[in-house]
Amino acid sequence: MDIAATPEWAALTQHHAAVARTHLRDLFDDDPGRAAAFTATGADLVLDYSKHRITGETMGLLTALARAAGLPERTDAMFAGEHINTSEDRAVLHTALRAPRATALAVDAQDVIDDVHEVLDRMGAFTDAVRSGEWLGHTGQRIRAVVNIGIGGSDLGPVMAYEALRDFARRDLQMRFVSNVDPTDLTEALLDLDPATTLFVVSSKTFTTQETLTNARAARAWLVGALHDEAAVARHFVAVSTNATEVEAFGIDAANMFGFWDWVGGRYSVDSAIGLSLMLAIGRERFAEFLAGMHAMDRHFRDAPLEQNLPVIAGLLNIWYVDFFGAETHAVLPYSQYLHRLPAYLQQLTMESNGKSVHEDGTPVTTMTGEIFWGEPGTNGQHAFYQLIHQGTRLIPCDFIGFAEPNHVRSVEGTTDMHDLFMANLFAQTSALAFGKTAEEIAAEGTPPELVPHKVMPGNRPSSTILARRLTPSVLGQLIAFYEHVTFVQGTIWGIDSFDQWGVELGKVLARQLGPTLTDPSPDLSALDSSTAALVARYREWRGR
Ligand code: F6P
Repeated sequence: MDIAATPEWAALTQHHAAVARTHLRDLFDDDPGRAAAFTATGADLVLDYSKHRITGETMGLLTALARAAGLPERTDAMFAGEHINTSEDRAVLHTALRAPRATALAVDAQDVIDDVHEVLDRMGAFTDAVRSGEWLGHTGQRIRAVVNIGIGGSDLGPVMAYEALRDFARRDLQMRFVSNVDPTDLTEALLDLDPATTLFVVSSKTFTTQETLTNARAARAWLVGALHDEAAVARHFVAVSTNATEVEAFGIDAANMFGFWDWVGGRYSVDSAIGLSLMLAIGRERFAEFLAGMHAMDRHFRDAPLEQNLPVIAGLLNIWYVDFFGAETHAVLPYSQYLHRLPAYLQQLTMESNGKSVHEDGTPVTTMTGEIFWGEPGTNGQHAFYQLIHQGTRLIPCDFIGFAEPNHVRSVEGTTDMHDLFMANLFAQTSALAFGKTAEEIAAEGTPPELVPHKVMPGNRPSSTILARRLTPSVLGQLIAFYEHVTFVQGTIWGIDSFDQWGVELGKVLARQLGPTLTDPSPDLSALDSSTAALVARYREWRGR
């Protein structure tokens, strides 16, 4: 089905023409109950979406669009394990990774919940052993540092969640994350580590990813070179993967492998065994809370009516801006330094999922799809790029994320009042974006006339505010699941497969082909385009080849 050909889409196009002329100032003036009407709660998250360029009618029309796209049916199909990843013929079951032990769910005749909890139990036992000092390195010393080697979903989820939950992490266990095949990444990570007390977690769904295996081989060479014994690998390397054959071929014992399944997409995998480094940092109990938070948001998404459903509302608002206002980007602005990697994490989640231009059946889409996600924590962003959001020519919907209570249990003297100041900035920004400041207001302050146009704040810039009491493992899990389902809602409306990623394959193939042209004594550059051939030739010259 082409969603743009439906009467629901046409109704929204018509409605947009009227709403686009309306200012948020007027919408708020006209309805004192607006904030309450456009605030929804799901698990422990509160979403205030009143500062969006919508009316009650807009939300009704968007919800009708969701029904026309079959959102409720597709949601049920996802939770039931149907093969909704059509181009790879796979189930999409990240929700099963956080389902309680008692849940019954068989997929392709296999009890997936049993499988999930069997791995979680093994991860938990391993985590306890490492954290208690029972698991010893090859020379009999306890583990003091964990290095996760992985890329994409096998890195971004663990590192983002670890950074977010540092307050809950063991401070005497150093955590490092190596992803880039740029040798500086591994080098910097290992510089001050002692091989005898370092544990590597090699995380790769496929265990064929060039960057990860290259880094893992280099790490193994570093370890074996220092401990002078190949046997050391068994005490210092564990693997997280779906590919037991490749793990064993690398030299990691199957007993030290934690598995997951093809129905877990890489960018949806932080709650699978890919979360092992996170579990090592925060412990199995906190990891269980993290999963429970995700499950709470899953239940909300599956059960709440569309009109009160946080991921549905947020996903539909994104559709509204991308497809009717022509917005190209979406800013994510966490007011929590702990969430500083959230925008990077969301870039993979949203853009690898919804960066598609054909429908599930291969026909071209007729609407714009996935927007560009980006962002930085506030207040830093305020002193960098917010200027463009406030006064530039582009419409950039923003998500502001904040917490009532500061995290740090070990508070530093002098920081007591800082959190209030911090949050005052969040509230002030959403208000300035929505309501701005008129030329009349600025002139009335005695501003010289020639400066008035420069100081006008147009306002009418939309934002959501997501609030929770505190950034706990559960709340982080809720936030992640929230964004997973927002991504799903958008993909469903657009009729695309949000769970494949064919677009990254060509680059991988070409990099493999190009490798030898950089190092061979006499390479054949004739097959390369003239630009690439010239760049390769210059690189070789500078490398003295
Ligand atoms: O970039 C493509 C991709 O397949 C991502 O989807 C994935 O998260 C990443 O590579 C890493 O893959 P793997 O976990 O198999 O090493």
